[in-house]
Amino acid sequence: MTGVEIVEVAPRDGFQAVKPFIPTETKIELIEELVACGFRRVEIGSFVSPKAIPQLADTPEILQRVSLPKGLRVMALVPNAKGLQLARNAGIKEVSWVISVTESHNRANVNRSVDESFRDFAAAWRDLDGDKPKLRLGLSTCFDCPWEGRVPEDQVVRAVERVIEAAPDVEIGICDTTGRAAPDHVGALFGRLMPRYASDRVTFAYHGHDTYGLGVANAIEAYRQGVRVFDGAAGGLGGCPFAPGAAGNTASEDLVFAFEHMGVRTGVDLTKLLAAADRVAAVEPRQAGGKLRTVPRKRALAGFGHATQGVGA
Ligand code: COA
Ligand code: ZN
Repeated sequence: MTGVEIVEVAPRDGFQAVKPFIPTETKIELIEELVACGFRRVEIGSFVSPKAIPQLADTPEILQRVSLPKGLRVMALVPNAKGLQLARNAGIKEVSWVISVTESHNRANVNRSVDESFRDFAAAWRDLDGDKPKLRLGLSTCFDCPWEGRVPEDQVVRAVERVIEAAPDVEIGICDTTGRAAPDHVGALFGRLMPRYASDRVTFAYHGHDTYGLGVANAIEAYRQGVRVFDGAAGGLGGCPFAPGAAGNTASEDLVFAFEHMGVRTGVDLTKLLAAADRVAAVEPRQAGGKLRTVPRKRALAGFGHATQGVGA
């Protein structure tokens, strides 16, 4: 793959952070608008307890009704074996299973110790019959934890090893759940992980939040270390309800702008994405973020018609 892949996660991480229920019809319209921008992969909803995240309880209905381009990869988040089963029943071929690197966040998020979560994951993955879905294992709190502060690199390395032991074919999501990582930290961690663990079978993705305005800088540092898959949420929406103090995901439009401006292809049509991002942000303007939408549109897009033309899927 030349260029990078931006995975649009607003329909999961973005929507889950919004309190008032977003009507299913609105979610479907926004997802259809987003996937028309040229993303190759989108994360739609999650299969978690509806008590934990009531906003995403309509995921099965959305998956049934939404129209998606052929060939689009659709991922959904799962926290346990039950979620995996429900996702497969709904026709999901690609799951993002979430485990936190730190005890306190894992307890807050999925009510398990880290050991329990890894044991549950290993058993569920081993016992899976039929075609295994593609796997993203999202490691939350790889840099900073709301309760435990800065996370030692060794702790993340150990978690990565446990993932690979249980699932040798995997995309590992390295997540800055709170947005508190700085580029030197991102560089140091990937500088250890990439040479040692990245292979044909094990790839890495970077999932960052933009709480302190470092989302794009962190993604570029991850790119410099060899990472080629990045999560973003249109309109900068997002946040984990179980990570106090975290703001939205790094905005997809900011990532697309930064990479394309550096001559790195994303395949995403920035003109369409900015329009879609405005619509997503309007769902909950107080929680929306990102920088590019605040720049006069003509100026933001100057020179981009040509750069993105023809590469959108
Ligand atoms: N989907 C739907 N329901 C689920 C479920 C899933 N994946 N996993 C468990 N449940 C249901 C159980 O069936 C049970 O239902 P009941 O009360 O009607 O019998 C109930 O939830 C409790 O099950 P239990 O296994 O004891 O779960 P828990 O209370 O320890 O909660 C999780 C664990 C993982 C289900 C819950 O913490 C969760 O959904 N977390 C997701 C958090 C999240 O999405 N965070 C943001 C993304 S990072
Ligand atoms: Zn997130």
